[in-house]
Amino acid sequence: MHSGQVTVLDFGSQYTQLIARRIRELGVYCEIHPYSLPLPALRDLSPSAIVLSGGPASVYADDAPTVDPALFDLGIPILGICYGLQLTAQLLGGRVEPADAREYGPATVTVEASLGPFSDLAVGTELGVWMSHGDRIAALPPGFVSLGSSPSTSFCAVGDLRRRVFGLQFHPEVAHTPRGKEVLSAFLFGVAKVPASWTPTSFTEAAIAHVQAQVGDARAICGLSGGVDSSVAAALCERAIGERLTCIFVDNGLLRLGEAETVARVFREKTPHLTLVAVDASERFLGALAGVTDPERKRKIIGGIFIEVFEEEARKIEGAQFLVQGTLYPDVIESVSHKGPSAVIKSHHNVGGLPERMHLSLVEPLREMFKDEARAAGRTLGLPEELIARQPFPGPGLAIRLLGEVTASRLATLRAADAIVTEEVRRAGLERLLWQSFCVLLPVRSVGVMGDLRTYEETCAIRAVTSTDGMTAEWAELPYPLLRTLSSRIINEVPGINRVVYDVSSKPPSTIEWE
Ligand code: XMP
Repeated sequence: MHSGQVTVLDFGSQYTQLIARRIRELGVYCEIHPYSLPLPALRDLSPSAIVLSGGPASVYADDAPTVDPALFDLGIPILGICYGLQLTAQLLGGRVEPADAREYGPATVTVEASLGPFSDLAVGTELGVWMSHGDRIAALPPGFVSLGSSPSTSFCAVGDLRRRVFGLQFHPEVAHTPRGKEVLSAFLFGVAKVPASWTPTSFTEAAIAHVQAQVGDARAICGLSGGVDSSVAAALCERAIGERLTCIFVDNGLLRLGEAETVARVFREKTPHLTLVAVDASERFLGALAGVTDPERKRKIIGGIFIEVFEEEARKIEGAQFLVQGTLYPDVIESVSHKGPSAVIKSHHNVGGLPERMHLSLVEPLREMFKDEARAAGRTLGLPEELIARQPFPGPGLAIRLLGEVTASRLATLRAADAIVTEEVRRAGLERLLWQSFCVLLPVRSVGVMGDLRTYEETCAIRAVTSTDGMTAEWAELPYPLLRTLSSRIINEVPGINRVVYDVSSKPPSTIEWE
């Protein structure tokens, strides 16, 4: 339980997570719960404010999601956004009707009253906002006043000042509403008087205390992959339980250049009490992958051996009762949202069935954090940027970026080319702006000429994408000078590659990885 927390009730908007993120960026702890959360359970959370999210439904549809109207009598400040506003209006005696035309896109709202969520905006301010609605408020509920309107929508922002219930027809949480954060901030701090106590230091300390309480005097093990999530989870648990944590790092031989060494070095330096077991299982993985070209078989083989190796090592650690995983808040929300539990599994963190087989309980110190918060916690714990700023890297590693057979020599070729991309993208200051940037080695040979010699070598594809969550992605418009440097360095410096191409496919319909 967090004091001063805000509860977002989710009606299924694609922006619900963004609401929570914006609120947390303002330094306020915020949780998302399904709209169907029973009132007593909501009261037990004792939120300082409640936000009703948007959603795809229409309030007068038969099965429209709704809440107990007693919610509005709890005395807790409420902000309804889009569907949340329409539901508020309908439940409190106003009238909602279909708009003449569905409004989707940018609009301008004129501030009519400097009150509630608009209290930091002067009357007459023209506010650029993002709209996405099919219904609109036709008549306000008793006690409500209008705070702002647009040419097509009379009630864009409304409120009952006495009850501290407000509503916005637009989405303050999206980037297309540039001053949205001021609107949320006025509601949180001006109306609800919520304390801003959610800082990297505070949430890191809270997570450490939670791990201490959960694990007590027992021992825990953690699978360290070198990725951001498992690294931060491990560092945080080391701070909590010191030498009672053992991390197992499995080198599957499919990692990037210097990765295994970096992870070992960083953790030996930064987490001196932690026991790090580094297992070099590369021969076992490469042996099992010999002759395999089918992408799904590669994945299955790698996943299977990973579990075998991890389990063998874990069994050597006496008395471990807990397994640490780097589950993040978005994974948790996925399974509790109004859509019902969904089978989202982070394949690399999930050491398939191991907790049950070995009777281990899970410790998930990042369960309440978004990715950027986990990164901030990592910085608070002293982890270096080379680990924190990492782009996502798939569990099956370079095996799924080597089309065709995985051999030691093709791995060496890909590793060398990939290191050049990493180095140059970092030098260009683009590492954090890109979701991922990497190389793929294609089993396609073409003719080239180097000096006086004819070459007949493989092709390297460069992949660079922008994305917010990996579900969709745009190919990145990398600057030509960068592409030129990448191409000339890879062809000149990496034996086995004589041609470089740039992948200009977005997701969907293409995927980010090639396999
Ligand atoms: P795709 O290729 O499906 O990738 O567009 C979306 C994101 O997921 C990562 N990815 C994986 N991660 N195990 C993982 O841990 C996998 O088998 C795997 N396949 C893809 C990919 O790098 C991207 O960030």
